[in-house]
Amino acid sequence: MIKKTFNIRKEAFKLSISIKSEREIALMRESNRLLAIMHLELEKMVTPGRSTWDIDMEARRYAKDCGCGLSFLNYEGYPAALCISVNEEVVHGIPRKDKILQEGDIVSIDAGLIYKGYHSDAARTYGVGTISPEKQKLIDETRNSFFEGIKMAKAGNHLFDISNAIDDYISQFGYGIVRDLVGHGVGSSLHEEPQIPNFRQNKRGPVLRPGMTLAIEPMINMGRGDVEWLDDDWTVVACDGSPSAHYENSILITDGEPEILSLI
Ligand code: MF3
Ligand code: CO
Repeated sequence: MIKKTFNIRKEAFKLSISIKSEREIALMRESNRLLAIMHLELEKMVTPGRSTWDIDMEARRYAKDCGCGLSFLNYEGYPAALCISVNEEVVHGIPRKDKILQEGDIVSIDAGLIYKGYHSDAARTYGVGTISPEKQKLIDETRNSFFEGIKMAKAGNHLFDISNAIDDYISQFGYGIVRDLVGHGVGSSLHEEPQIPNFRQNKRGPVLRPGMTLAIEPMINMGRGDVEWLDDDWTVVACDGSPSAHYENSILITDGEPEILSLI
């Protein structure tokens, strides 16, 4: 999600992070299970010559077939089911009939479903055909940074322990962490409190409690982390034009290890 800046007065208010009931957790599990399967279906479509529009159509068909809504479609006017972001596009790329995947591209697919009122949210980055070792490493380390982050996602730890772990891991590669976009709580709304930065914080943040559901989503550029918005007001690109990767799952905080809801 796009990072929102709060004034000092507002920031003084206590965050209200929702704790899901067992019923809500069951619905979140199902929403995310269906999303995990959808991602596996969409992955098969990532081939040279394919339009990003085709992939969006497949997501719409899938959601309809399983009786789900699409979290992103019409969200603040967003015009598609998926965000499909190619190469230097970081997130929120709008699928188009004339946007054709090419051998050597890297492409991130970000998706969310609504099942009985509960949102799922997950993103993956794939190579199209054969890609350079540098791009493959960016994809792999972005994914790895998510897993480093969620090692800290335990009840009693603080939220920004996750942020710091992602930053500490990524910093060894000289990549740029995107700072203008952050992870978020997820549940009966796509974007709930809290915001979850992927870079080091000078506070520890709220304490994690069982029943919190969070979308953790590192967005990492091969070059600098600065981003800008294209004229379509959605597509976020790396200012230096370097390739960018995104990896996201919705997770549940438990009494023990976090449960990754959107992986099967
Ligand atoms: N995973 C993205 C996010 O959390 C997807 C939002 S796309 C939008 O911001 F279109 F819905 F905004
Ligand atoms: Co998200």
